[in-house]
Amino acid sequence: MAQGPKECRVKCVLRAMDEAYARLLQSDSKSLLKKYLTQEMYNELKEKRTPTFGSTLLDCIQSGLMNLDSGIGIYAPDPEAYAVFAPLFDAIIQDYHLGFSPAQTHPPLEWGELTAFQNLDPENKYIISTRVRCGRSIEGYPFNPCMTEDHYKEIEQKMTNAFQGLGGELSGTYRPLTKMPKCEQERLIDDHYLFKEGDRFLKAAKACRFWPVGRGIFLNKDKTFLTWVNEEDHLRMISMEPGGDLGNVYRRMIEGVNAIQQQVNFSRSERFGFLTFCPTNLGTTIRASVHIKVPKLSADKEKMKSVAETHHLQVRGTRGEHTESEEGIYDISNKRRLGLTEFQALKEMQEGILEIIKIEQSL
Ligand code: ARG
Repeated sequence: MAQGPKECRVKCVLRAMDEAYARLLQSDSKSLLKKYLTQEMYNELKEKRTPTFGSTLLDCIQSGLMNLDSGIGIYAPDPEAYAVFAPLFDAIIQDYHLGFSPAQTHPPLEWGELTAFQNLDPENKYIISTRVRCGRSIEGYPFNPCMTEDHYKEIEQKMTNAFQGLGGELSGTYRPLTKMPKCEQERLIDDHYLFKEGDRFLKAAKACRFWPVGRGIFLNKDKTFLTWVNEEDHLRMISMEPGGDLGNVYRRMIEGVNAIQQQVNFSRSERFGFLTFCPTNLGTTIRASVHIKVPKLSADKEKMKSVAETHHLQVRGTRGEHTESEEGIYDISNKRRLGLTEFQALKEMQEGILEIIKIEQSL
């Protein structure tokens, strides 16, 4: 029987995916995608689709197929993808989040006692700045690859209204990218406030369509509380300041998140906690980090790596992931975000950073 144009297209896409997958298998990619997507699993998943948005395996793995230097290599095009492509997501999630197994569920939100957190570097010798961020998706909307241009605009409008409700220390202005001159964008990126444009990992995952529509940044007056709108996630709420006062940075983020939560509903899954586009961010979605200079320790790459691993920390370059260190400054944060509470994630980071400083002092 003759095939219609739709069947033809589906076949073409499948063939292209087969070829890209074969290239991944032959490559020396270190991605978790390559590690866990066996031929058998690939065959099992390759023709599945999510019920509501019809997302495919290719939508999940495209970024990792096109960027063989990915660390992870997959994104969930819509919330249902975590279930439909569970064999792949579960394996990658368990590896990245250091043991979160398919039988586990993420605990309920628990910010914990603020008094447990301190200034990690009271003499200002090592830590340049401290940052805590979390991501949120807004209920009723899919993730980037399935969003329409109107979805971007609606979310931005909702957030513009929500930001007007922020008072005191948190009050500030929302700046849409559509109205921000390029030079100003560049300055904000340089100062580590704003996200970069055209991340190739996100682009390949179809997360940059309609750019810059609906994208923007809210900044409070002191530039210590910010929110990214419609970058990788619908929302990234960020608290940051110079120095090592983790307790104060965390407090401000909690206040910001609580204030915004009064105006918009966040998507939460029974098993995965807060839902995000990338599986590395599920659960608490918390990344607590410092920009730190530890010249003696970082001169010994192997030692630095092993200390980070022992303390469940992740080391990135100065300008975030996929970048190199500049002037010996590293971005060090908690690695796992799923399967523990917000409080535990912060604690894990605090203990690790204190240990790193202690080791630096002993060298
Ligand atoms: N997809 C990229 C990779 O696999 C980034 C993964 C984690 N980072 C993120 N921003 N979600 O390397």
